[in-house]
Amino acid sequence: MASTTAPTPFDPVTIGPLTLRNRFIKSGANEAMCLDGKPTKALVKHHRDLAAGGVGMTTVAYMAVAKVGRTLPNQIWMRPEVIPDLRVLTQAVHDEGAAISAQITHGGSFVTGMKVPGRTISSSSGFNPAGLMKGNILQRAMNEEDMARVEAEFVQAAELAREGGFDAVELHMGHGYLLNQFISPLSNRRTDEYGGSAENRVRFPARVLAAVKRAVGEDMAVLAKINVADGTRRGATAEDGVVTAAALQAAGADMLVLSGGRNVESTWFMFGSNMNREIIARVLKQQGEWITALMMKAAASSEPKIDFKPMYFLEYSRKIRAAVDMPLAYLGGARSLAHAEQSLAEGFDCVVMARPLIHDPALVNKLRSGEVTESGCDNCNGCVAYIYHPAGTWCVHNPPNDPVLNTIPAAAVQ
Ligand SMILES: Cc1cc2nc3c(=O)[nH]c(=O)nc-3n(C[C@H](O)[C@H](O)[C@H](O)COP(=O)(O)O)c2cc1C
Repeated sequence: MASTTAPTPFDPVTIGPLTLRNRFIKSGANEAMCLDGKPTKALVKHHRDLAAGGVGMTTVAYMAVAKVGRTLPNQIWMRPEVIPDLRVLTQAVHDEGAAISAQITHGGSFVTGMKVPGRTISSSSGFNPAGLMKGNILQRAMNEEDMARVEAEFVQAAELAREGGFDAVELHMGHGYLLNQFISPLSNRRTDEYGGSAENRVRFPARVLAAVKRAVGEDMAVLAKINVADGTRRGATAEDGVVTAAALQAAGADMLVLSGGRNVESTWFMFGSNMNREIIARVLKQQGEWITALMMKAAASSEPKIDFKPMYFLEYSRKIRAAVDMPLAYLGGARSLAHAEQSLAEGFDCVVMARPLIHDPALVNKLRSGEVTESGCDNCNGCVAYIYHPAGTWCVHNPPNDPVLNTIPAAAVQ
């Protein structure tokens, strides 16, 4: 659906109650820059640099709606005491003229870096392969009481994000986290109205989104990150992705960020390339995480080997573009100004990038000035290993992060 009158990626865009100065969005990518579940000064620097570098909006990754919703101990956990640090973070981004979104989420049974008490919650009961590394071996199916509690936790997290100065919330419904454990047939084996057909599987995530929208929708844009497909046999298909998108449009989502793949079953699909197992193993071993390193190595041996292809979700995302009438953000292998322009010409409203902006937070300004036409990211996926590192996520081709900044709470007076 190429258009000759498409806006440029540098034009403003309105998403619900929010107007962005341009259409480049930094994708939520685990920064590993928090302490005791609160942001550090490293996180403030990271997002300030992205805002100063020209993005329209930056996304703070993986902000758990509950203590047991974290997958790693170095993630933010939303509660009132985190507000002063969030305000410092959001103010720093606003001072540079960008907007800031909070990716709110719950890991459910995908808890890889910490032991949670009792069984982890999920859509269905049973053995939990993702929990093996830390002893979260069994999961239990959520009942109505659990659903009401998790819905309230998402609402509270969105309200706290508003209080903390965020402009948007992004509910994570992809990649294998709790809400995706409902959407994906790989994990949802329910026989009630929350399982079975694609319409039923999205019912609980859509209910959570509608509740968040009712609570904060007048003040904040309410986004959801979804899978266009799981990319694996018996996983959610492109047709399921269309059903998911339509249900979330009906529930009131202001924009969908279109991703794909699952953390356990299909990371290659999510990243359009294989993980850098060598660097991940090195970083994990440095942190004493030998078992995790071994398990990741074992998982890697069963992966298909694939070569990175730019714009790797385009075919799938086009199907969703054709099916719904709401703002959509293209994500997945956008690496150049031409890719951003193509995304808009194809009818997407924004272009979302992770690795290129980890490599160079000033990429958007450089694309605008013509200093560069494409990202210098070589898709080595070395950055992914550093979500396990105490200094936080960084591009292995850049100078390392200052580890001290990651030991100081964002709101600390120095
Ligand atoms: C280091 C790293 C950490 C990531 N962590 C998250 C995360 O916490 N939440 C999320 O939704 N996606 C996460 N992702 C996936 C990205 O948001 C994005 O979907 C993926 O990298 C594809 O976009 P890209 O081709 O622009 O990198 C992460 C990606 C990277 C590289």
